[in-house]
Amino acid sequence: MYRYIIKGGKRLHGETEVSGSKNASLPILAASIINGKTTRLYNVPDIEDVKTTLQILKELGCKIKKDKNKIVINSKTMTKTTIPDNLMRKLRSSVIIAGAIIARFGCARFSYPGGCDIGARPIDLHLENFKKIGIKINENTRYIECNCDKIETKIIELDFPSVGATENLILATVIGNHEITIKNSAMEPEIIDLANFLNKMGAKIYGAGTNIIKIKGVRDLREISYKIMPDRIEAGTLLIAGAITKGMVKINNAIPEHISPLLSKLEEIGCEIKIINKSVYLNANKKLKAVDIQTMPYPGFPTDLQPQFSTLLTICAGTSIVRENIFENRFKFMQEIQRMGAKVTIEGKTMVIKGIRKLHGADLVSTDLRGGASMVLAGLAAKGITRVTNLQYLLRGYDEFDKKLNELGADIIREEGE
Ligand code: UD1
Repeated sequence: MYRYIIKGGKRLHGETEVSGSKNASLPILAASIINGKTTRLYNVPDIEDVKTTLQILKELGCKIKKDKNKIVINSKTMTKTTIPDNLMRKLRSSVIIAGAIIARFGCARFSYPGGCDIGARPIDLHLENFKKIGIKINENTRYIECNCDKIETKIIELDFPSVGATENLILATVIGNHEITIKNSAMEPEIIDLANFLNKMGAKIYGAGTNIIKIKGVRDLREISYKIMPDRIEAGTLLIAGAITKGMVKINNAIPEHISPLLSKLEEIGCEIKIINKSVYLNANKKLKAVDIQTMPYPGFPTDLQPQFSTLLTICAGTSIVRENIFENRFKFMQEIQRMGAKVTIEGKTMVIKGIRKLHGADLVSTDLRGGASMVLAGLAAKGITRVTNLQYLLRGYDEFDKKLNELGADIIREEGE
């Protein structure tokens, strides 16, 4: 493992590219086991969460070829239906592979998933709704066992528009002779990418991107090639890197409408934003001022950009209020940013940030994926040297983060050892 040594105080300047979306790749990789054929995926980010997912698919019996961002999955040879516990624990989205295994074999066995420690993150919505459509669930101390003779035609309504539960239900129900309606479904762009992928294979999924999704089961799915959409959270993080360093950056290969709540908040604090086709240009040469945000399911302000944006607010003039409505434990990273001089008070779901002129460099320990990215951003803006360790979290979700920031003029060195 290595750490980042960041020399702060450099204004970022120039352009860089966004990689393929982590949160679209993971369900699409899971979906590629359903057809029992070969799937070619392009623009897949080269990150740890993708590697763990591929490891699970291999354990299940798939043959994988990976050439940087191109992945070929042959699922003909897949025979197993149990997801190994050690890999389940590595990442939360492993749970959605269960839906795909059920679609292929009518049964699946898995344990409770792990992932970043940003909240309780139960899977009750996944299991409850599996039961409603005819999947029998047997939970014992080690494993959750799912068995299903036939998916039943049903209209179901999610208590909360969970991204993972929506994806798991889509995956579990693409094959068969039924009709499923999911009300209050998640509307995130990654759900649209999953539906586009499956529909290209021959599935019949209607309404992805709205809060009512209909799935008409089909007999089988064909072999396809597919390009993963750009990562909206990475695009947002790179723009915030531009803003926090008072820089001028152009982020290419983005889908600007996917990050419109962030773009309006960046404008509100005083950044100039221009959209040119698939690029977003940001100029932060004016004094930045405080603003309030609250995280919401899409199309609201994304929880996955809250830590990075809150870090930016620590150096915006005035008092900002941040309300985190999705994950109850997502302010942990701020304890580290406070070591750099940030003035913050936290009470439950609310954080009050009093903007200061400048952060100072410090030694920081990354707490989770987006929290880790925020510490790097803070280091870029700070006076002096910042060292960030525990980078395994960051590597789960960002493809060449240091390289892209250095392309923009940052001074980040990777050093072996913690
Ligand atoms: C996905 C994203 C993650 C993002 C999150 C919210 C992936 C791989 N991850 O995670 O980056 O932060 O959406 O946009 O796509 N919940 C329950 N019971 C359940 C399921 C969820 O109570 O069965 C709760 C969670 O604890 C959380 C909220 O619902 O408080 C949102 O979770 P969900 O939308 O399911 O997020 P994930 O799919 O885990």
